[in-house]
Amino acid sequence: MGAIFQSLGRTITAGVVLLVIIVILAGVGTGSWVRAADHAWWSFFMRWLHVLSGVMWIGLLWYFNFVQTPSMPKIPDEHKPAVSKVIAPTALFWFRWGAMATIVTGVVLALMNGYFVQAISLQKGYHAIGLGMWLGAIMWFNVWFIIWPNQKKALGIVQVPAEEKAAAARMAGMTSRFNTMLSIPMLYCMVAQQNGGL
Ligand code: HEM
Repeated sequence: MGAIFQSLGRTITAGVVLLVIIVILAGVGTGSWVRAADHAWWSFFMRWLHVLSGVMWIGLLWYFNFVQTPSMPKIPDEHKPAVSKVIAPTALFWFRWGAMATIVTGVVLALMNGYFVQAISLQKGYHAIGLGMWLGAIMWFNVWFIIWPNQKKALGIVQVPAEEKAAAARMAGMTSRFNTMLSIPMLYCMVAQQNGGL
């Protein structure tokens, strides 16, 4: 057991194996099996991948805003590089690719559900998911075209003069806060479509 949890790769594999066991046990217990031949099941599967990606993305967005940014002033200067040179670049990697996976799986899901055009044009009956998709798309744009380019300057991945570096850090921080604000109505709209929230 210990050997599993000493490796992230083995831990994730164990999670997938556990899921397969749960699916099989549920099938044996209820006599109702996963209907992998149905389009509806694949749409469900895409929804699951979408939520996994979304948790990676928004989990890290909230980590930056709830944990890392408020903690930085409390860290002695000589220890700050541990965050800016090691933790932040790794977190930003999973953050931006989590955002990419979320929008891709979200768009594929809307196409599979047959309402992509109705949703983005905010037609009645699809306005909840449409609003969620627009909010999510704005957030995705902010990640890839504002936060990440500015973070590269702020973290010294791209070399710029000190003044530009400080301005870039401010812009990345403010946009990250803006996305945290948007995440509240975005997630409401996401879950509202299926559950009568709007
Ligand atoms: C650009 C970004 C996004 C797009 C295009 C998108 C698209 C979608 C679509 C089409 C659905 C299916 C709605 C339905 O018919 O029930 C959905 C559901 C959902 N999305 Fe997103 N989404 C995005 C971002 C996010 C993010 C960041 C999260 C964070 C976790 C998220 C979490 C969810 C959840 C929890 C559901 C509900 C699943 C359910 O009720 O079965 N989405 N999204």
